Amino acid sequence: MQTKISNQAIVDLSKKTNGSSDTAAFAQHVAEGLSQNPKKLSSRYFYDATGSKLFQKIMDLPEYYLTRCEFEVLNDNRQAMANHFAQDSFFHLIDLGAGDALKTKILLKALQNQQSDFDYVPIDISGDAISHLHQNLDFEFPNIKSNAVIGEYFQALEWLQQNKSERKVVLFLGSNIGNFDATESLSFLHSIRSYLTAGDKLLLGVDLRKDPYTILKAYDDASGVTAAFNLNLLKRINEELGGNFDLYKFRHYPLYNPQEGVMKSFLLSERKQEVYLEALDRTFSFEAWEAIHTENSYKYSLPQVEEMGRRCGFKIETVFQDKRQFFADVLFSVD
Ligand code: AVI
Repeated sequence: MQTKISNQAIVDLSKKTNGSSDTAAFAQHVAEGLSQNPKKLSSRYFYDATGSKLFQKIMDLPEYYLTRCEFEVLNDNRQAMANHFAQDSFFHLIDLGAGDALKTKILLKALQNQQSDFDYVPIDISGDAISHLHQNLDFEFPNIKSNAVIGEYFQALEWLQQNKSERKVVLFLGSNIGNFDATESLSFLHSIRSYLTAGDKLLLGVDLRKDPYTILKAYDDASGVTAAFNLNLLKRINEELGGNFDLYKFRHYPLYNPQEGVMKSFLLSERKQEVYLEALDRTFSFEAWEAIHTENSYKYSLPQVEEMGRRCGFKIETVFQDKRQFFADVLFSVD
């Protein structure tokens, strides 16, 4: 009998976090966010099982250009990107928030074709996502060595720092940087930079500034999927924290500010109402048309991206863009 030797390994760092349960952290976040004036909740809580499915649907929407544009960028430039990464020496291809790695697989194929010497390190907080990906890579890319990590980004980078000393190419695709505000983006890029040394690279996906109506429509689709995605946050509070939000009394409200380049999403209370959360044993009051801020999606110009990188110790090596110049994958190097 022949035993197939797998090329894939998984490291699970998720149990080595601070010990406080996810639900307790969520409850505390909701208590703080709904006590503030103006009220706010973080978009990081969008992604429960339903929210993740809705986000998959968003990526297929005709109005949501971001995903299609980035696919175009990666497809059209895959060989050039692979050449930039390879540089005749072994490297770790580190994929922050890998998910199903659909986009990264374009690069894996290109790297495989040019017989690059690398291993693939997908990092994701979702154990389910990593175990699906693990099985899938074994099937689709049996010859690529992969070391998947389940954990938070910086926890995983710390682990890599201690366990893998070779050259690093970090991927942060999909305009995820856009969900951080200016301070958060700088501190995120600074932290990534602190794990990198000369010769390492970062490929960063950025949604570029464009006609404000194109941007607005991407977050206000005609079929209402983005509205359901935003409202799902209240459904999650109901399910996980014993809330009694009436989803029919709240409305998705997207607003693009072209001067700040930020798409802001809100949930509007359509009337004066009170909501009780069992887990907190607290009631929260909403005025008619009071808003909860739920998400920022920042759009950048290329000079802004360059400046942001410069402030964090990165230099632009190449900018890859789609034909309409809606989206950029910016390749940064470290000196
Ligand atoms: C995950 N992130 C980059 C998406 C975005 O475009 O900000 C999340 C999203 N929110 C509404 N639609 C998509």
